[in-house]
Amino acid sequence: MSPFVILGATFLRNTALILGTALSLNACGGGSTPPTGPAVVQPEPVVGNLPPVEVSAVALADPGSALPEGWQNGAFMQIFVRSYQDSNGDGIGDLRGLIQRLDYLKTLGVRGLWLMPVTQSQDKDHGYAVVDYRNIEAQYGSLADFDELLRQAHARGIGVIVDYVINHSAAENPLFVQSKSANSNAYRDWYLWSGTKPTGWSIYGNDPWKGSVGNYYFAPFWDQMPDFNLTNAKVTAWHMDNLRFWMNRGVDGFRFDAVGNLVENGAGAWENQPQNYTILRAARQMMDGYAKRFLVCEGPSDPGGYTAACGSAFAFNNTANIFSAARGEAAGVQRVAAFHATAAAGATSRMSTMLSNHDSFAGQRASDQLIGNVAQMKLAAATYLLQPGTPFIYYGEEIGMAGGGTLGGDAKLRTPMSWNNSIANVGFSTGTPYRSLSGNLSNFNVAAEQADPNSMLAFYTAILGLRNSIPALTGGSYEAVTVNGSVMSFQRRVGASTAVVVINYGTSAAAVSVTGLTASGTLATAYPSATADVSVDASGQISVTLGAQAVRVLTLR
Ligand code: NOJ
Ligand code: CA
Repeated sequence: MSPFVILGATFLRNTALILGTALSLNACGGGSTPPTGPAVVQPEPVVGNLPPVEVSAVALADPGSALPEGWQNGAFMQIFVRSYQDSNGDGIGDLRGLIQRLDYLKTLGVRGLWLMPVTQSQDKDHGYAVVDYRNIEAQYGSLADFDELLRQAHARGIGVIVDYVINHSAAENPLFVQSKSANSNAYRDWYLWSGTKPTGWSIYGNDPWKGSVGNYYFAPFWDQMPDFNLTNAKVTAWHMDNLRFWMNRGVDGFRFDAVGNLVENGAGAWENQPQNYTILRAARQMMDGYAKRFLVCEGPSDPGGYTAACGSAFAFNNTANIFSAARGEAAGVQRVAAFHATAAAGATSRMSTMLSNHDSFAGQRASDQLIGNVAQMKLAAATYLLQPGTPFIYYGEEIGMAGGGTLGGDAKLRTPMSWNNSIANVGFSTGTPYRSLSGNLSNFNVAAEQADPNSMLAFYTAILGLRNSIPALTGGSYEAVTVNGSVMSFQRRVGASTAVVVINYGTSAAAVSVTGLTASGTLATAYPSATADVSVDASGQISVTLGAQAVRVLTLR
């Protein structure tokens, strides 16, 4: 291509499309992958000192899925592998360590895992700066370890989805190294370049254009995470090959990172652009060629739109409602009830719900937001585990783990899992943990809570048990939603299964009437177990009394 003297990203992206045929991708095209084996690597010839890139085509070769139909309606655990369990004493969590904890996850009642990036990364922390899209981060293990994790998780009826970073790569990714090497490089148009500094841009308060005169590149998240040019069809085709690479190994789906940022149409049009949805629909459609694969997208400013495009997206816009309700605020209870009110007919029933995640912009851990108030933490948990959607439990939330006491920023949210009360290593490692520990490890840890029937862990296990055993709670409708002060009740139904959920967020006992039930029947109490059955009167109504900050779940006998 001729030297770039351009005005901005849009011009370059259009140029890339027009000149697309002039780009040469030597190793692209043709080829197929055996059903369970890795893609055939066809290294690029090394030009000078440039690293070879991995752009070989990967054909669909579905190994199938032994997971039950609807598995993705079960609760997921979001796992930061680096902080979950270390198996070799180097102080860094790894895949073999995670395998050791699968029985814990199964007993808890988790049906899926979301692994934050496990691909080889430059950042050596969160993993979102991907160096090799088709290999495992060496600190975490190997592809063989990953295959073993899939095997062992599947054997326990647990699906595994992995983070996929579609918007940007690491600056050390060979593709970017090639791209930045020369205007004439075959991969130049895989990223966004401008000869002059584009003006008027501000993303998350920062100028996204990095680099220097003649070579400005677009990198809104970090100068070491340049954005791909996703209007270049060769880039999106390559992403599809990478996705097939993992699904051919048996991966059950993906969490797509930062989907609001995929394509920019100018300084004032950089978020949630129409092309984003087109790319995601194409990915979802490609995934539908495989059995039972799940896709959840991270698009904080348009959860509904990305749910429609991807199949599911995170309900960032509901976490504050849940915490407000848990604090007993009547307005919060109203908002939490209304959030899923269109679920039976609309997209929200497919949303992925959560209390917190690994990013501080999404809020602190429940324990920190609710100042360690266990009753409120249980109410928050019951809300997202019993309402519609697919709940994603951020690792440690099930034990009420707090953030790192001495840490700030995102690191505070990403501390080693508190398996026991050892102030040296919390049972996470036999060595020295790579990061300092959670602030409440002495009382909130797995070992202590397994021995306490009133613990957070016992509560999560009980509620997940209900969700897994009552079809109406796993994938049923959301009906007869009623709010009375601080009490919310709703009914969920599918087939012959009916569940009635009543949650009293208030600090005094409350008497509640629930209407619209089958007349003159009997409801069995599924939770708490010591509570008696309830008779429905001739008008289809029941009256129940709940203690303060209490949850009651009933099912039709
Ligand atoms: C969103 C991820 O959740 C966050 O952790 C990451 O830093 C950015 N996307 C960029 O990949
Ligand atoms: Ca390790």
